[in-house]
Amino acid sequence: MARTATSPAPRGGPAPRAQLSVDEARGAWVQAFRRVRAETEARAARLSAEDQIVQSMADASPTKWHRAHVTWFFEQFLLAPHDPSYKIFDQRFPFLFNSYYVAAGPRHARPQRGLITRPNGGDVTAYRAHVDAAVERLIEQVSPAEAARVFEIVEIGLHHEQQHQELLITDILHAFAQNPTDPVFDENWQAPRATQGPRGYVDVPAGIHTVGADGESFCFDNETPLHDELIPHVRIARHLVTNAEWLEFIATGGYTTPSLWLSDGWTTVQTEGWEAPGYWRQKDGVWHVMTLAGLKPVDPAAPVMHVSYFEAETFARFAGKHLPSETEWEVAARAGVIADAFGIAWQWTRSAYLPYPGYRAAEGALGEYNGKFMVSQMVLRGSSLATPEGHERLSYRNFFYPPARWQFTGLRLAEFV
Ligand SMILES: [Fe+2]
Repeated sequence: MARTATSPAPRGGPAPRAQLSVDEARGAWVQAFRRVRAETEARAARLSAEDQIVQSMADASPTKWHRAHVTWFFEQFLLAPHDPSYKIFDQRFPFLFNSYYVAAGPRHARPQRGLITRPNGGDVTAYRAHVDAAVERLIEQVSPAEAARVFEIVEIGLHHEQQHQELLITDILHAFAQNPTDPVFDENWQAPRATQGPRGYVDVPAGIHTVGADGESFCFDNETPLHDELIPHVRIARHLVTNAEWLEFIATGGYTTPSLWLSDGWTTVQTEGWEAPGYWRQKDGVWHVMTLAGLKPVDPAAPVMHVSYFEAETFARFAGKHLPSETEWEVAARAGVIADAFGIAWQWTRSAYLPYPGYRAAEGALGEYNGKFMVSQMVLRGSSLATPEGHERLSYRNFFYPPARWQFTGLRLAEFV
């Protein structure tokens, strides 16, 4: 958060990177803002009004809510504090579209987001247009003295919106997976192809390694501070675990052998009736999986997805291996020795989601973004097929609760020598 308006913009992030004057930065941020906002609408455009209001479980949110919430984020954290002339679009909206920012005021219950048929989709479209115009006006007109802070909030708002672009996809896939007609999000969608080539393990040497974000480009606060970690000599799988390997795990009794599971994991298997990854179902005796292109036969060569931490951890034990720690993953990814670190499936690590040494959350409501969730969740690294282009980073720390599997989540294995 220490950069200024004239410092390099993030590599791979929403904005172009260069040493920019304030006026040049205005143009760059307007373009970045338009590009990211348009991507949200492009994703939503594949969905009908009915699709956009459904909420299939408490963890998933309606598309309409995502479109409005990311807009509220700009209204709440950028426009209200930094544009004295800004008028709140609708006084009812902050209550409806605040997610979890206690400091920003009361909010509607998350599990009931799908009950909000009004404001309707058109109202949300108007809200977006209202905020879009105000944000662009602020970027163009903010004083040079305030520009750095304003651009910084624009930047986090765009990265926030990109996170919701991914959730928009994963949440609608969960909704479609509840529909017996197997709806198609994108008939032309194809699963990303995993890297071919020799499988096996790559060595990561023992030693002290520097990990985390260096602050030279955009990062969320949970990636800081840059710090040293000691790791043992570890060997990390070059490739992601495949569906073929998972089919063998199922056939060998993976889901019916309690001794393979953590206690909470086995309880979840029993409670949820799990016998395969999320969205897998038998059709004519063949495993199929719900995808963005509808129900498709499971491709044995493709990386497994929609597995929880519990399943990933159990599979690793079944295979006689381990999950890498997030530090081991980052060191290997920085060395460029693992395939498919990004763009297919987030990879579970065996690391609990905890603050890095010396971590402090940001001041104010934005400090609620990451820090208050640092308990009871596990870290995932990399990115997925639903992650917007340019949003991934080597230091990125995603996190979910151990039973969660509606995201595009997979794994790679590790072994110790
Ligand atoms: Fe959010």
